[in-house]
Amino acid sequence: MTILITGGAGFIGSHVVRLFVEAYSNYHVVNLDALTYAGNLENLKDIEKKDNYTFVKGDITNEDFVNNLFQKYRFDRVIHLAAESHVDRSINDPLAFVKTNVMGTMILLNAFKSLWTDNFINKLFYHISTDEVYGTLGQTGLFTETTSYDPNSPYSASKASSDHFVRAYGETYGIPYVITNCSNNYGQNQFPEKLIPLFINNIIKNKPLPVYGDGNYTRDWLYVKDHAVAIDLVFHKGKNKETYNIGGFNEWKNIDLVKLLCKQMDEKLHREKGSSEKLITYVKDRPGHDLRYAIDASKINKELGWKPSVTFEEGLNKTIDWYLNNEDWLCNVTSGEYQSYYEKQYS
Ligand code: NAD
Ligand code: TYD
Repeated sequence: MTILITGGAGFIGSHVVRLFVEAYSNYHVVNLDALTYAGNLENLKDIEKKDNYTFVKGDITNEDFVNNLFQKYRFDRVIHLAAESHVDRSINDPLAFVKTNVMGTMILLNAFKSLWTDNFINKLFYHISTDEVYGTLGQTGLFTETTSYDPNSPYSASKASSDHFVRAYGETYGIPYVITNCSNNYGQNQFPEKLIPLFINNIIKNKPLPVYGDGNYTRDWLYVKDHAVAIDLVFHKGKNKETYNIGGFNEWKNIDLVKLLCKQMDEKLHREKGSSEKLITYVKDRPGHDLRYAIDASKINKELGWKPSVTFEEGLNKTIDWYLNNEDWLCNVTSGEYQSYYEKQYS
């Protein structure tokens, strides 16, 4: 089986690529990634020489290139992760999100459809999506697979649109597909624009911790390696045309999470108790900020037997250790473009 994984040099993609390359020596894994600011081949150094792995640098929005790649490798299955993924960037440049997340997905769907036409036996288009397509929850309730789509940010609107196209291609052209909608991931190799790695980096450097609004926003956090395991399960055992929600059963208000992070960082850096908390700075809120996300992951639990393997404290501990032991990685990704992004976002 030849599998195309898009966005495999990014945060979640690199964990998925590693899992598939290591666990399935009989699969040929082709990782297609444009290496935007968020893509980093350092994330895959340990597996780059494996016989069943090929990296291809390229853009999913380049139609001719994508069509030629499908003809060359004849991909049986696709796991599609490539995306613009940060809400704040989508507020500043929504069109870039439409281009990659909507047009890029369409171009992949068309290439897949043209390659196999109506002979889709054992083929699969697996689309990786987010819980943010469901919009926001109030203080109670959970997102289920039947919750109506109600996206509030350009990022979530672009992901919602791509989900709809995948479903439409399944209904109209018979493409076999699955979609998973996952909650916030954290763990090693996450680009330090998202809350947890950004704050770890700032604590190391004694910089302010910019908490948006009053900090009373809630997210459901999942350790990235547990997401990769869920993706493996859905890829092999998920039912055609189904959606599975994936979450951590792990809701945290931002401000409580930040205080836990500060506590763990003080211990690890041997700093005086309470010193990192002093860096907390409340800043202007994100426009359209979703109040609360929380996933009901009982379907994937009951049907496929998946559940998270680590507690949040354990996962956070491992994550902090990784960033502290990989300062070169952090330095490399925070030089260059990151500086101007940071200046624009937080000045
Ligand atoms: P990321 O930003 O870390 O990585 C995205 C990857 O896609 C990068 O390697 C980048 O180079 C690549 N890419 C971007 N545009 C491309 C293009 N035009 N052509 C080819 N490659 C391109 O993202 P992530 O956090 O790893 O998220 C991966 C997927 O999972 C996304 O689809 C995202 O919507 C989804 N998701 C993320 C989370 C989360 O918490 N991070 C949660 C649920 C779902
Ligand atoms: P983020 O990691 O950007 O993920 P998402 O917006 O996809 O949930 O943000 C997580 C939460 O943290 C969200 O409520 C916004 C908040 N946040 C801050 O308070 N300050 C920051 O600098 C960032 C990046 C996020």
